[in-house]
Amino acid sequence: MTTTESTRTSEPVLQLDGVRKEFGGVVAVQEFNLSVYSGEVVALVGDNGAGKSTLVKLVAGVHRPTAGQIRISGEEVTATDPRQVRELGIEVVYQDLALADHQPVYMNLFLGRELVTGPFRRLDKKRMARETQALVDELDVRIPSAKAIIRDLSGGQRQGIAISRATQWAKQLIIMDEPTAALGVAETAKVEELIDRLRRRDLAILLVSHDLDQVMRLANRITVLRRGVHVGTRMTEQTDKNEIVSMITGLQAADERA
Ligand SMILES: Nc1ncnc2c1ncn2[C@@H]1O[C@H](COP(=O)(O)OP(=O)(O)O)[C@@H](O)[C@H]1O
Ligand SMILES: [Mg+2]
Repeated sequence: MTTTESTRTSEPVLQLDGVRKEFGGVVAVQEFNLSVYSGEVVALVGDNGAGKSTLVKLVAGVHRPTAGQIRISGEEVTATDPRQVRELGIEVVYQDLALADHQPVYMNLFLGRELVTGPFRRLDKKRMARETQALVDELDVRIPSAKAIIRDLSGGQRQGIAISRATQWAKQLIIMDEPTAALGVAETAKVEELIDRLRRRDLAILLVSHDLDQVMRLANRITVLRRGVHVGTRMTEQTDKNEIVSMITGLQAADERA
């Protein structure tokens, strides 16, 4: 347990206790313990195959743990039900973004939750476009218009839209799986600013990233997985890239503790 965790008084937004996931005989994640609080960015790092995406899917309600418990604001997630998790205020931005390329930005923001109006329940496009514009303005995501078609946008703009959509619906926690992996330097900087803005809005963010410089810049805490084993969690200001690299690779005996 880190110092912050032991001195905190508020309830964690997300709490994982002894979480384990097996696929057939393969143990993808074992004995994973983590609490995430509002207003912080926690980075989840580890090599390919370490179990990061499995953990994301466990929290998202796509998979059920083989053992252990997942609580969202104290409430245990019992069903394998992504909708229940979304209703509890948790949104996931997946690596492929899951945007509808041929649809305008505003339809994407309301995908599956479209606003309707009148006795015939027609799509309320005006209101969706208006609310979308207000949100992207507030988050400083620069796009030509809320009516722009997704496929006409740059990679950075699309990522901005996927994150805006999550922000629109997430009341508590946003999980991002490699949000800047496909982006250039300037676009990455914009997304990092956006993540920082979400933290200041008191959301909790669980960030999966390969980019350790980014992790050191953004995260309050860093938690490391190696081949399904939870190596440990560090406060960013009390660690450095070298320690994190050795936790990821297991190449320094001193880091086997934790
Ligand atoms: N649906 C699945 N069925 C079987 N094995 C899986 C499944 N998903 C992940 N795994 C295995 O679990 C381990 C962790 O994978 P994953 O969570 O995707 O790692 P990461 O995202 O860190 O690269 C790997 O050995 C992977 O092959
Ligand atoms: Mg993965």
